[in-house]
Formats: sequence, C-alpha cells, structure tokens
Amino acid sequence: MTHPMMESASRTPAKTLAGLAATALAAAAVVAAVTGPASAASGLGQLAAAQGRYFGTALANNHLGESAYATVADREFNSVTPENEMKWDATEPSRGSFNYTGGDAIVSHAQGHGQSVRGHTLVWHSQLPSWVSNGGFNAATLTSVMQNHISNVAGHYKGKLYAWDVVNEAFNDDGTRRQSVFQTTIGDSYIATAFQAARAADPTAKLYYNDYNIEGINSKSTAVYNMVKAFKQQGVPIDGVGLQTHLILGQVPSDLQANLQRFADLGVDVALTEVDVRMQTPADSGKLATQSANYAALTKACLNVTRCVGITVWGVTDKYSWVPDVFSGYGAPLLFDDSFNAKPAYTGVSGALGGGTSSPSPSASPTSSPSPSASPTSSPSPSASPTSSPSPGRSCSATYQKVNEWNNGFQAEVTVANTGSSSVGGWTVTWAFPNGQKITQLWNGTPSQSGANVTVRNVSYNGTVAPNGSTTFGFTADWSGSNGTPSSVTCAAS
Ligand code: G3I
Repeated sequence: MTHPMMESASRTPAKTLAGLAATALAAAAVVAAVTGPASAASGLGQLAAAQGRYFGTALANNHLGESAYATVADREFNSVTPENEMKWDATEPSRGSFNYTGGDAIVSHAQGHGQSVRGHTLVWHSQLPSWVSNGGFNAATLTSVMQNHISNVAGHYKGKLYAWDVVNEAFNDDGTRRQSVFQTTIGDSYIATAFQAARAADPTAKLYYNDYNIEGINSKSTAVYNMVKAFKQQGVPIDGVGLQTHLILGQVPSDLQANLQRFADLGVDVALTEVDVRMQTPADSGKLATQSANYAALTKACLNVTRCVGITVWGVTDKYSWVPDVFSGYGAPLLFDDSFNAKPAYTGVSGALGGGTSSPSPSASPTSSPSPSASPTSSPSPSASPTSSPSPGRSCSATYQKVNEWNNGFQAEVTVANTGSSSVGGWTVTWAFPNGQKITQLWNGTPSQSGANVTVRNVSYNGTVAPNGSTTFGFTADWSGSNGTPSSVTCAAS
C-alpha cells in the first residue's frame, strides 16, 4: 500500500502540563510549573517542563523490553504517544471486538514513569481494518460505526490521556479533502461528528486535529486553518492542532513559527506531534550538524509561541524509525542513533530548551522517577500565602471537581471564575489536601506544593478572565488510604 506521505505532491516533509519538575524539586516537595501535561522526567522532558512545555516521544510497546530503549525513553521524555497501539486496526480489528492490550501497556508504563500520554489516533484512513474501509456501509451506518469506535476507545482511556489525535490526515496537499472512506461515505461533516463523539467519551482530553505537510503556510495548512476557524465559530469541540513535522534535512519551513501563531490565534493549542528530520544515509558530520540546527530551529519556533504546548519526536532511536521503510535511502532522523547514543541533534534540542550542550551518558538511568509512595520531605506550611496580593474590586472563586479516580491516582479540574465586575489580570488558587495527596502533573497553571498545601497560579495565557468569565486548570495526583476533597479552595484575583 502506498504510504500516505509518499502521496505528497511535494514529497517535502510528508510525519505538557503546566508541569511539575518533580525530579530535582521533588526533594523539596515542590512542583514546578509547566503549561501542558508534564511531569517527572529528567533530560529533555525536565528542560521542557522548566519552559512550561513537554518533550515527548512515540513509544512502541514491542521495544519496551529492550533495556537501552526503555532507559532512554524514561530518562529523556515526559510525554509519550503510542506509535501504533491505539490505532483502529489494533483497537477494533473486527466490528465490536475491542483490544486494548498494547495501549494499556503504554499507558501503564507512562503512568509508572511520570509521562503524560497523547492518544493516537481515533479516525484515520490508514491502519484501518478492511471491515471498515471495504464494509460497504451507508452514511448512517458508517457514522454509527465511527461513533461507536470513538465512544469505546476514548471511553476506555477516559481521564487517563492528556490529548487525543481525534482525526488524522484528512486533507490532501492541495487543501481538498482526502477521499477516505469516511469522506466519500459521510462527507465533510464526519470530522465534526468525530470531535463531538470524542468530547462526549472523554471530556478532559484535549482534542486535536493532526496532519503532515502543514508546518509552513501553504494550501494544506490553510485548509486546516479554515476548518479550525469554522469549528470554533460553530462550537465544535476542538482544542488543538498537531503539526506532525516529518521534515527533510535542511527544510524547516521559515514560516513555521508564524504558522503556529496563526493557529494559536484561533484559540487552540498547537504542538509538534511526530517530529523527525530525515537525511540521505549514510550520515556524516556535516549532515548531523545541519540536523542539529534544524532541531534547534523547530524547538525555538515552538517555544516562541505561547500556546505551543510541546514537542514529540517520532521515535526514541534511529534504529526503529519508520523512515527507511518508507523512504528508500533515507534515515537517521531522530535524536539517538542505532546504539542509543545522543546525536548532535540532541544537543541542538537541549540547547534550544535552555539546557547545556553536553550529551547524556548512554547508560544513565533517569535521575528520578515518580514514587507514588514517597513522603514529602518538607513540612507543611499552612501559613504559606500567594506572593501576589489581591487587588481591590477584583474577585474570583475556585471550584474543585474530581473527574476521575483509579487505584492510587485521580484527576481533578478546578474552575476559576471571575466573580467581580472588573476583568481579572491574574489569579492564585490555594487549598490544603486532607489526606496527603500529592500532585503529579498539572496543566494550564503554575503549581507548587508544600506538604498538604497547594498553590496554583495562572500561566501567561489564562490569567486574564473577563467579568462572568471562567477558565480551568487540571491535574493528576497520587493518593492512598482515602481521597477527600479539600474543605476550602480559595481564589485571589489580581
Ligand atoms: O504488526 C505487524 C507485524 O505483525 C508484522 O509482522 C509486520 C511486518 O511488516 O508489520 C507489523 O505492522 C507494522 C506496524 O507499523 C507495526 O510495526 C506495519 O507493517 C507498518 O506499516 C506500521 O508502520 C507504522 C505506520 O505509521 C503505518 O502507517 C509505523 O510504525 C508508524 O511509525 C507510522 O506512524 C505514522 C503516524 O501514525 C501518522 N503520521 C505518519 C507516521 C509515519 O508514517
């Protein structure tokens, strides 16, 4: 079967949370800020978390048993995307028969290593079982088949994923719709229907449209832009756009940042979701240096856009990249070589993220991993108060709601509402956990935790709240014994 990226006319680049740097900071029982799903990794994940972003990788379940693979994955990345395990052919290979084995293994691994998960992908023309693509369904039946798939798969992972790539690769390079079975049978409306079904199945996952060859401003990215704009106007639930960013050496679009910004200006998050930079093999020092500069440039483009929440590379190591299988003569597209040594591209990324330019030792293990049972080492500080003082005439309220709970973890959402008549320019929410709960990840806010006491301040893009308006932040946390709701959650406006 022709690979979708080989259909690209140009053959150019065909493929978070307000986080907690729970590593070094964990000793002080303080969680640092990130703006997407982020958490406890070291390496690039920790550097990204310090910038309010995540840095992730595609993860393949069948390689997790290889210790070097798992060591690098868990040391460097604080977000993962299952490379194949949540696709339709894996999750619903025959009608109504669901299999979550691979996806569950990835989620379990991620939860054990402080990594958030991007779900990938609910509706895609590829890796689609023939019972769907050749089923001969009419529009009503195929709509129901699609809704049922989304309801089951997104429902199964409800509350456990940071985001879903709801629809993947629905456009051609010229901006027309790809003639997938969904498009030809249902028509344009299938994408909105898919987003609505995903929201209903998992109200807390960020819902993304994801595609390749939309990194620069061109016919395809403009078609996606127009769709997102229409969705926002029509109230179709979309939260983000994923730019896959499968690039060819030396071809980072010069307008990548401007393109990210124009999407962000529509009111959605953006992310680089499947980054790789392929070169003709064999690699040499000159190509590797160019690749390093390319990775630095795309990382900086993301950092320069407030709503660019994170970057995911499409694989841990060149050894298992999809590239040589699809683009004959090309390869070496990732940050680690076949022997799991960091390449110059690694230092390109780490330098852009504000870290040093030294490479990690190949055998180094993560500097820390989340320890659900770890006790805070600092004493509670009940008198801790926000550093910003409330401003007269400005007021807010905070409502805490637990949205999901499992084993020793849970997810909650806090709604911050402007209760005054003036616009709020910033907010600080505080509470004390009654049962020793500890935050592991937090998004859309800047958290710190000292013992039981939690303080969450706004991030740059959600501090302003209009009268009668509201915003939300969410988090996951560990608990044991009991998981009581804080008796008082206060909000101070500035
Ligand atoms: O699982 C079978 C295995 O049983 C069989 O023995 C083997 C023989 O070839 O194939 C295995 O399936 C392969 C699968 O990856 C799992 O390894 C498929 O052949 C292979 O085509 C498939 O490739 C994946 C590709 O998507 C399919 O389109 C790549 O791993 C994956 O990296 C790639 O990812 C896509 C994103 O999802 C969307 N954007 C583009 C990106 C790159 O193509």
